[in-house]
Amino acid sequence: MKSIVVLVSGNGSNLQAIIDACETNIDNGKVTAVFSNKATAYALERAEKAGAAANFLDPDAFDTRDAFDKELMRQMDEYQPDLIILAGYMRILSGEFVRHYLGRMINIHPSLLPKYPGLNTYQRAIHAGDEEHGTSVHFVTEQLDGGPVILQAKVPIFEEDNVESLTERVQTQEHKIYPMVAKWFVEERLEMRQGKAFLDGKQLGIHGHAPE
Ligand code: GAR
Repeated sequence: MKSIVVLVSGNGSNLQAIIDACETNIDNGKVTAVFSNKATAYALERAEKAGAAANFLDPDAFDTRDAFDKELMRQMDEYQPDLIILAGYMRILSGEFVRHYLGRMINIHPSLLPKYPGLNTYQRAIHAGDEEHGTSVHFVTEQLDGGPVILQAKVPIFEEDNVESLTERVQTQEHKIYPMVAKWFVEERLEMRQGKAFLDGKQLGIHGHAPE
């Protein structure tokens, strides 16, 4: 059984999608632990309900980002994670943390990377008058939202859209593609080599896997 550790900061709807998938179609994967940097994250309740260890680590208890990340790593490693999933984890990661989990840590970011790394992607897409937006699952590297893309989902932007309506449309897609990528990883179909993502031995392009 592959051990999956999930990092969260908020609602945890993506965590829920992963938990549900592990119970239904990711035969060899299990969410063993969830870590949050926010005490009130609803994701922690979801973790408990699912029987995963739910942990809050308080950033205020540490002097530096490095010290926090070191302790987080120590606690995470008790679960011997094969895969680390960032699911709405809204903290910058230290270099040491990223290097420690390189090749086995993935993130979901609400934009069609490489477009709109960083925050407020919905506002930026609407403000720019874009006709589409979306979400990207990627391997985590030291470049913020810059690691190789594995899979994207696109949605249209309609004239009457606001941040809320667009978020809902994008998140519906996130809940489909994130478990799919987790399954690929658990099945050892997916890997990162020399900064590139490979699925079934084939190198993926800048927008990730494109179904034929
Ligand atoms: C997700 O939509 C994810 O794309 C975004 O946070 C949301 C968390 O929702 N992540 C980022 O913005 C990372 N930069 P959730 O807690 O309901 O899964």
